[in-house]
Amino acid sequence: MKNFFSVADVDNLSDLVEEALAIKANPNTEESLGKHKVLGLVFLNPSLRTRLSTQKAAMNLGMNVMVMNMDKDGWALETQDGVVMNGTTVEHIREAAAVMGEYCDILGLRSFPSLKDREADYNEDLFNKFIKFCGVPVVSLESATRHPLQSLTDLITITEYKQVDRPKVVLAWAPHVKALPQAVPNSFAEWMVKAQEQNLLDFTIAHPPGYELAEEFTTGATITHDLNDALSEADFVYVKNWSSYKEYGEVYPVSENWMMDNEKLKQTNDAKVMHCLPVRRDLELSAEILDGPNSLVIKEASNRVWAAQVVLKRILERLNKNI
Ligand code: CP
Repeated sequence: MKNFFSVADVDNLSDLVEEALAIKANPNTEESLGKHKVLGLVFLNPSLRTRLSTQKAAMNLGMNVMVMNMDKDGWALETQDGVVMNGTTVEHIREAAAVMGEYCDILGLRSFPSLKDREADYNEDLFNKFIKFCGVPVVSLESATRHPLQSLTDLITITEYKQVDRPKVVLAWAPHVKALPQAVPNSFAEWMVKAQEQNLLDFTIAHPPGYELAEEFTTGATITHDLNDALSEADFVYVKNWSSYKEYGEVYPVSENWMMDNEKLKQTNDAKVMHCLPVRRDLELSAEILDGPNSLVIKEASNRVWAAQVVLKRILERLNKNI
């Protein structure tokens, strides 16, 4: 594995998940693999889980970790070429990324979308430039369109808790007060579609009209506007809000109640409920579910460590072989 940006960077999903679960069983067997190697974590946006779980994973591998909160502590970045920098931006990504690459062996980057310019966001301009100019392997800590460490975590968690060979997994849209990115649902969808292709699960997406995700992520999934229909016989319900892709970043009023609660859960196969967190209680997901026996959200967050550790391990193995 050279970089980790999407499911396309994974050769064999099952192998990666099994290796992550083996690491979970014995987390400290590779504590010399990353000795004298430096991981730099660069955040242009806030984070709790991604920041701490990736640091912990790197420490389990013997790496040193540096964290840069670019949004608060860095110089204002210019990402466009050919501009005269006589405005508010202070440093160009060409120099900033190259300098970080001099200090670090692997870099992680978190960069949310603007939700204003769909083409720019979906071109992943900033991420691609960062990869190009830093010269070292890059791990996505969530980009404009994807959150692969979260999606790998989610597949690990489903594999760990499934009661049947091919569980029914439902991605269920939920209400929110803000316009949120499509990165988590896009990414979850592309990982679940690939897992479905490999007969690991059945995947359904339920959302109100107007909240269709980009087809590049969802082709192969069953897609419905009927939440009750989707929930029938579900083994896992993955709750998440997102804003409109079509009318980019828009939030439409939704008449039906789309918040998951215990009443809706009765239609499922006693489904486990997942959410990437942070979650707004009793808006996206009921407190009764979050505090009840069907919630996997804390175990899911805990698994973030093993997702990060298996990815860093694979990249370190390649670096140590100089390939
Ligand atoms: N799920 C997730 O990525 O959490 P953070 O935004 O806190 O890192």
